Amino acid sequence: MKAIIIEGINQPLKYTDVQMPDLLSGEVLVKINAASFNHRDLWIQKGQYGGLRFPSIQGSCGSGVVEKLSDGLDSDWLGKEVVLNPSLNWGNNPHTQAKDYIILGMAQDGTFAEYVKIHSRLLHHKPVHLSAEEAAAIPLAGLTGFRVLFTRARAVKGENILVTGVGGGVALLVMQFANAAGCNVFVTSGSDEKIAKAIALGAKGGVNYKNEKWHKEIQTMSGGIDAVVDSACGDNFAKLTDIVNPAGRIAFYGATLGAFNSGVPAKIFWKQLDILGSTMGNDEDFKNMVQFVRDHKIKPVIDSVFPLEQAQQAIEKMERGEQFGKIVLKVN
Ligand SMILES: NC(=O)c1ccc[n+]([C@@H]2O[C@H](COP(=O)([O-])OP(=O)(O)OC[C@H]3O[C@@H](n4cnc5c(N)ncnc54)[C@H](OP(=O)(O)O)[C@@H]3O)[C@@H](O)[C@H]2O)c1
Repeated sequence: MKAIIIEGINQPLKYTDVQMPDLLSGEVLVKINAASFNHRDLWIQKGQYGGLRFPSIQGSCGSGVVEKLSDGLDSDWLGKEVVLNPSLNWGNNPHTQAKDYIILGMAQDGTFAEYVKIHSRLLHHKPVHLSAEEAAAIPLAGLTGFRVLFTRARAVKGENILVTGVGGGVALLVMQFANAAGCNVFVTSGSDEKIAKAIALGAKGGVNYKNEKWHKEIQTMSGGIDAVVDSACGDNFAKLTDIVNPAGRIAFYGATLGAFNSGVPAKIFWKQLDILGSTMGNDEDFKNMVQFVRDHKIKPVIDSVFPLEQAQQAIEKMERGEQFGKIVLKVN
């Protein structure tokens, strides 16, 4: 089959022939229609990710059709259109992942291929209102966004929510989920054009984080923020503790700008703030996320669609940070 492989750190994504996967007990073979990029694909290529193994097939997100089952599996899945939960081996504790937890697309071969194998419990029916490309855009970003917004930040209707860096794949879905839940959503971005697009999609307002006083502008515009969903961290984090309301929550799932080296601890304890880390999600989070997408007819924003063989050009676009929404690969 055709696949995209990566052969080492800082090597280009290469379109080539590889062997078809062998199914183990409980696994199914899915013919991939579309796959999508996440920032982790870039971290992996740069060698800034744990558990690297080369050569391997990247890709955590995919939609497709179940083509083959291992012995004894329910034949109802055969021929069904599916989306795949990339959160492998979460384990039994809903609050945190097990020690052997891994993500589809490093260490286990992923969706940047004509076929992928996956355990049948990670299959979910593709929401019918989504195209193959749209369905491929939701798994990792949707799961991460759903858990960080609802399970961790505990966002509810009527609250003011700040989503930083709205151009990102996860951030944009967080904004759409929060809108659908009846929250008042405010955003930041490094691009005024992306802010305008977010407002057109339902955000109440936004500010460019390149303005030094962006946090004060957000505070004035919103009248106060109840919960923040962030993936940048770095020194901007201190500004979030400034603007969040007393008893507010700051939840983060990434650290694109690195460690927090500044901030006043007294702001956190005096204001009774909750600082919450979040990562991907468990099987229940994934099921609830797909149902939420179905119930609210949410359509993820697709930035661009590349053919599988142009995966390297696609990841370069992500590296330049030009995207608004998800970068998708059309596979079959
Ligand atoms: N823990 C997990 O399970 C998990 C899951 C998914 C992602 N992540 C992490 O979360 C981050 C985003 O992932 P993604 O896939 O959504 O990435 P992406 O689509 O490549 O987006 C990159 C994001 O970085 C934002 N950004 C860049 N500089 C910023 C700044 N100074 N302040 C605020 N935002 C800034 C961009 O905002 P604009 O384009 O609007 O400027 C954009 O939202 C990555 O670090 C990724 O590794 C973690």
